[in-house]
Amino acid sequence: MNIRHLVESQQFTVPLLMELFERTRAMEKIVARGGTRDYERSIMGTLFYRPSTRTRFSFESAMHRLGGRVLSTEHANEFSSEIEGEKLEDTIRIIGHYCDVIVLRHHEDGGARRAAAVSSVPVINAGDGTGGQHPTQALLDLYTIYRECRTLDGLSVALIGALDQGRTARSLAYLLGKFDRTKLYFIAPEEMQIKPDILDYLDKHGVSYECSATAGDILSHADVVYQTRIDRARLQKSDIDLTPYNIDGAVLSRMKDDAIIMHPLPRSVEIDHAVDDDPRAAYFRQTQNGLYVRMALLTMLLESE
Ligand code: CP
Repeated sequence: MNIRHLVESQQFTVPLLMELFERTRAMEKIVARGGTRDYERSIMGTLFYRPSTRTRFSFESAMHRLGGRVLSTEHANEFSSEIEGEKLEDTIRIIGHYCDVIVLRHHEDGGARRAAAVSSVPVINAGDGTGGQHPTQALLDLYTIYRECRTLDGLSVALIGALDQGRTARSLAYLLGKFDRTKLYFIAPEEMQIKPDILDYLDKHGVSYECSATAGDILSHADVVYQTRIDRARLQKSDIDLTPYNIDGAVLSRMKDDAIIMHPLPRSVEIDHAVDDDPRAAYFRQTQNGLYVRMALLTMLLESE
């Protein structure tokens, strides 16, 4: 393991991803047999300046199942000394004296990088800003694809939603771009299309992609449909019809039998609840995988200490 802090998904190489996924499989077995006490001397601090259900709970559950202990604050913008004007850098230096690893969700793009620059213990980016990254979500997304599609090469992946501010889609695009013959489709209203930094990266690495305002027949041949939310309040033309971006029974009927539908969650209206019972709906399996992947990641980072 040669990553000390996890700030962005492109830090991972393919061999390192495979090492993480091998550990993740082992974690599935450890959880099935009731967890381990192997990390009982370790303490994880979770510092969340923005709301979270899945990321914070799964990290905390991961640490508990490894036998470790957890110090936690949600609403860190209210309940940490930021409210007294303390800078993130000072907070991180101090928490580093009390924990062996810090999981940070910060409200500014680049918050995790600032934290990592001063931290004496590993920092894990649990989502930064609106245009930043959410690398651990991308890792669990990739693991889900690997488990469900049984390969990471030659996949067609459609990413839908407000992609400009989609931390998860941004982080996942970087990871998918590492595999052979990947084809990415970015489907979003024009003003919410994926940002040029991702496209530059894909161009540089010879990854094939298309940007489109409509799904057209893309979803009928995609192996993975990665759905995210679109916040209507952000649209300049509020009369724009968002239903073509939603997944319902009609879309399902056009999709391949072995395709999967993913969503980082939480969802709003963009996936009809009637879709949940279809075996292709992978989003709840995806959240479960979050626990295993985060356990594996914690062990990797704690061992590198
Ligand atoms: N997917 C995700 O980051 O969910 P939370 O905001 O609930 O952590």
